[in-house]
Amino acid sequence: MATSRRRWFTVALLLLVVASLWRGLASRAWRLPPLPATPGTPYAAPPDDDFIWRRLKHRYPVTSLRPLPTAGADALPGVQAHFAAEAPERKQQRLQRRDAIRAAFVKSWTAYKEHAWLRDEVTPVTGQQKDTFGGWGATLVDSLDTLWIMDLGADFEAAVDAAHRSISFATTQAHTVNVFETTIRFLGGLLSAYDLSGDARLLAKARDVGHMLYAAFDTPNHLPVTRWDLHAAARGEAQAAHASTLLAEMGSLGLEFTRLSLVTGDARYHDAVQRIAELLAAAQPATKVPGLWPILVDAAAEDFDAGADYALGGMADSAYEYLPKMAALLGQGAGLYADMYARSVEASRAHLFFQPLTPTGEAMLFPGVLHASVTDGLVETRLETSAGHLICFTGGMLALGGRLLANATHLDWAAKLTRGCLWAYDSLPTGVMPETSLLAACPDAASPCAWDESVWHAAVARAQPPGEARATIRDQRLPPGFAHIPDPRYILRPEAIESVFLMYRTTGDPRWQDRAWAMWTAIDALTSTPLANSAVWDVNTPAGEAPAKADSMESFWLGETLKYFYLIFSEPGLVSMDEWVFNTEAHPFRRLRGGTVGV
Ligand SMILES: *[C@@H]1O[C@H](CO)[C@@H](O)[C@H](O)[C@H]1NC(C)=O
Repeated sequence: MATSRRRWFTVALLLLVVASLWRGLASRAWRLPPLPATPGTPYAAPPDDDFIWRRLKHRYPVTSLRPLPTAGADALPGVQAHFAAEAPERKQQRLQRRDAIRAAFVKSWTAYKEHAWLRDEVTPVTGQQKDTFGGWGATLVDSLDTLWIMDLGADFEAAVDAAHRSISFATTQAHTVNVFETTIRFLGGLLSAYDLSGDARLLAKARDVGHMLYAAFDTPNHLPVTRWDLHAAARGEAQAAHASTLLAEMGSLGLEFTRLSLVTGDARYHDAVQRIAELLAAAQPATKVPGLWPILVDAAAEDFDAGADYALGGMADSAYEYLPKMAALLGQGAGLYADMYARSVEASRAHLFFQPLTPTGEAMLFPGVLHASVTDGLVETRLETSAGHLICFTGGMLALGGRLLANATHLDWAAKLTRGCLWAYDSLPTGVMPETSLLAACPDAASPCAWDESVWHAAVARAQPPGEARATIRDQRLPPGFAHIPDPRYILRPEAIESVFLMYRTTGDPRWQDRAWAMWTAIDALTSTPLANSAVWDVNTPAGEAPAKADSMESFWLGETLKYFYLIFSEPGLVSMDEWVFNTEAHPFRRLRGGTVGV
């Protein structure tokens, strides 16, 4: 997954609490009775026509739909490498590693089953339950395809049955929902499990959530309300897209909505996201930083250059990630998505990429955050050389895009971006990268430089004024090259292993598997609890000391992190990238093949 979607979600939650004070009572009007509390109790779904989101009459129905997409005429280049034969010892070691990951999944899944069945999350230290994403069983739905991939058949069947009987998108205790999060986790999870298993119960549930989410697009300009009061929508109140919308939340709905249209034959979902893509494409050459869109866009005015901060990381991330992934899904090596992707990569190199200053001088890259300002018509920019964990998906994005477009330069940058994150993992005493960091950078973004302590100290002084750099480094135990660690948590995120996985599948080089195993042993040692695995507060804890656990395990631990770890130690043909493309929550969808039409 990606996105600081997560961090903003906390801010949004605070706002929601306030909003709920005056919205709460009225919003109950349309609700069906709450779900049965007892796990396993059958839930009688209302007849199809009664489903609130199918019954709802849209105020602004779309009259002319974009046609269903078809694959490009030519087959795309292969994404996966040709894998050399594996030595017997190597295979044995790989299978041991794979089984260790599977055991970790079973442990966390069992904790969820026993303590939080059908709720959004289990708390991995105290064994409590909480609802963070609408109360529709986020962990259950996010785990469906992982259960299938790990061949946990009985658990898969039990989870499908529970989703079918006991999860209803006709009711929620949440006052508003995040349309993006609901799309990538619930719609993505259900569609992916359907694509893998062909179980019609999953498609029916995916249609339900699709119907619900489509109501968020019922606005005058057909752009979605991303932080959505679904109760107001269900009462038929008028709604409009927001002037302040995060790029990631507007631009990362394409894969799920398009796949839903392809498997149902209902063109409305694809139409809804195609309109967004067309607006993005029209705006891309003419922003303050041509090729990139800012983190903040104005969906009400359709202004895709509203903000002044440009980045590939949190709050923007998956909008970029979905460009090559849409090309992969649709089998289109040229056209709307491939072109937007190529332009965004070129602009990222010119404006965002930097080489961090490190003791070894190894060639690596990070994309920073560009702050732009306009004075007298002139655009001035300043690059913040930051490195959030969320940025670590970029190596994988360029690996996929580089293979699809047969561009060796992208593949070179993919390796450098992935090595940057591995260096950040290795730099911390716990062997795990922090949530956010500021880094010292080499003067030339394109090439590594020799270690220079005074450059590092100057970066520390700039990042944390006033204060004496040496004292700051000592007091905060800053690793060499790090100027500041504003948020030292690790919250079980997948982005780094995601890129290592893609590097492995696209190069076939088994050294990426060894890097993955080193990451795994560090992560498991840091986060393991008797029940499951937990986010931790401080990865910069001295070796030998255990940092405090945050008692949180977001659904992406089972949906993404453990899936990528498992797949890198599996046969490369299991969920081949030549047949599947992962959404930003690591849910694989079946790709259209060149020359084919429909599913
Ligand atoms: C490959 O990508 C680089 C960087 O975006 C670009 O400059 C170059 O023209 C591309 N090469 C081809 C053959 O498209």
